[in-house]
Order: sequence, then structure tokens, then C-alpha cells
Amino acid sequence: MRTLSTLAELASFRTRAPSAVVLVPTMGALHTGHAALMDAARSRAGGGGTVIVSIFVNPTQFAPHEDLDKYPRPFEADLARCHEHGADAVFAPSVPEMYPPGDSTFVEETTLSRGLCGARRPSHFRGVCTVVAKLFHLTRPDAAIFGEKDFQQLAVIGRMARDLFPGLEIIGCPTVREPDGLALSSRNRYLAPEERRRAAAFPAALRTAAENSSPREVIATATALITQGTGSVPEYVEVVDAETLEPLQTLDRPAVLAAAVKIGETRLIDNVHLAARHAKI
Ligand code: PAJ
Repeated sequence: MRTLSTLAELASFRTRAPSAVVLVPTMGALHTGHAALMDAARSRAGGGGTVIVSIFVNPTQFAPHEDLDKYPRPFEADLARCHEHGADAVFAPSVPEMYPPGDSTFVEETTLSRGLCGARRPSHFRGVCTVVAKLFHLTRPDAAIFGEKDFQQLAVIGRMARDLFPGLEIIGCPTVREPDGLALSSRNRYLAPEERRRAAAFPAALRTAAENSSPREVIATATALITQGTGSVPEYVEVVDAETLEPLQTLDRPAVLAAAVKIGETRLIDNVHLAARHAKI
């Protein structure tokens, strides 16, 4: 496995990389959820193809008050995990390598990124799209893998890829969870033991609420159960069309229940799919 830290090293690796080239973008602090993405990348690339994992804590997707500085960076453990899961190269650039000082160019998806997390973190998806577009441009992958845990991110990147990188396949992978249902996240390590116990009520609330038959009931049940179980009022709870991410009034098409809650200082997001229950009229 190669470790690459400059654009020049990546470019020279890429010109010799056998197809299919599959990219797994991450911010490091890798866990079993990221490992599942690497395994999916390995199987999509095939034995003869190339899996590139990027590790870059992307400053442009963090707001000034967010956790950029304290974001965990266990680099050696991350490299070991990439090696274990069959990566051929890890691209881990510095900030000036990705963002030349004085840069003033960004990539922005303007529709799917507006609601949900985008409404609460105004420049977040602009930062995500900018760094992911740079990574796509540099690695020219045949496919790139993202987790369904960040459901809006997956949708936004899918749209950006369709609009700017025709032919690039975006593959979504199911959310990997702890035994009690909490979605794995690099941020879970911030939870104090007592907060961690309360956090398990979050996915449980979404699962229970998903049994209701209208978006209104789904949202009311999820909001009540999250508040009771975690001790925090959720930042948002929404039922949206799985493709357009527009809020839905009836469950007449594939939908997603998506929510965010802050437990102590730690912001968690999660989502569950809701199957269509009524025929479209
Ligand atoms: P990061 O949070 O490190 O996540 C990297 C990838 O792992 C994302 O596609 C995310 O959806 C996926 N992932 C995280 N937790 C998961 C879980 N429990 N199960 C399955 N997949 C999971 O998301 C980012 O980094 C950044 O925004 C990035 C796309 C790298 C751009 O900077």
C-alpha cells in the first residue's frame, strides 16, 4: 500500500493505476463503517483494480464554531485499517496542498443541499462538494463509495457527479451500527459514557416512529421519543422524498425519515428509509 501526500505523487500513482479505480473519501478516524466502504470498494475494483482511500479533515466543511481542531486524527491506526481492508493507496494531503493559499473557487450544489443539515450548516455542503470534486478530478475514479448514514451528503454528491462528472458511478453503502443501533461515527468518541447510553435512544426512536402511517405522525412520534430518550430536543426531524429531499405530506413514494440531535456537545445524525404505503393518485 502506498501513502501519498502531494498532488504530484497522486498524479503519478494515478497514471499507472490499473482500472477499475475506486475512491473512498474519508476524514480519517476510521471505524467499521469506513471499513465496510473499503470492502465494497475492493469488490467493485476487483482483484486487478485500484482502491484509493483519501484521508483529509476538510476545513471548508466546518463552520468556525465547529470541531475542526479537535477532530480526531489517529493517522497510524488509520493506515493500518486501510491496509487491512485492501486499499492500494492512501491519499492524505495537507491543507495547503488541497487549498492553495488565496484560493477563491468553490463547487456548490444548489438544490438538494438546501434543507435538512444544509439549512443548519449553511456552507457545509459547499465545502463537501468542493473537496469531493477536487478528489474526483485528481483521482479520476470509475466509481466512488459513500455511506447512507450521511444520506443528504450521498444525494448531494450523486447530483454533483451527474452534473459535473458524467460516467462516474456513485455507490451508496448501508449504515453500519453498534449492537444497540447507534450508527458508527468518528464523533461517537466524544460522548461521555452516560451520553453514549442516551444516544442509543436516537436510532430506536427513528425505527419506532417509522411504523406510523403518515409523515405527520412519524415526525411527532420521532420528536417525542428522541426528546424523552436522549434528553435533548432534536435539531430537526423530517420526512422527505428519497430522491428530491422535498418534505412529504403523504407516504406515497419512497421516503426517508432524517433527524439530527445534539447530545451534550456532540451532534448526531441518522436516517431510516420509509417504504411507500399508499398508491400514488
Ligand atoms: P467521514 O465522516 O469520515 O465519512 C466518510 C464516509 O464514511 C462517508 O461516505 C460516510 O457516509 C461514511 N460513513 C460514516 N459512518 C458510517 C457508518 N456508520 N456506516 C456506513 N458508512 C459510514 O463524510 C465525510 O467524511 C466527509 O464529508 C467527506 C465525504 C470525506 C468529504 O470531506
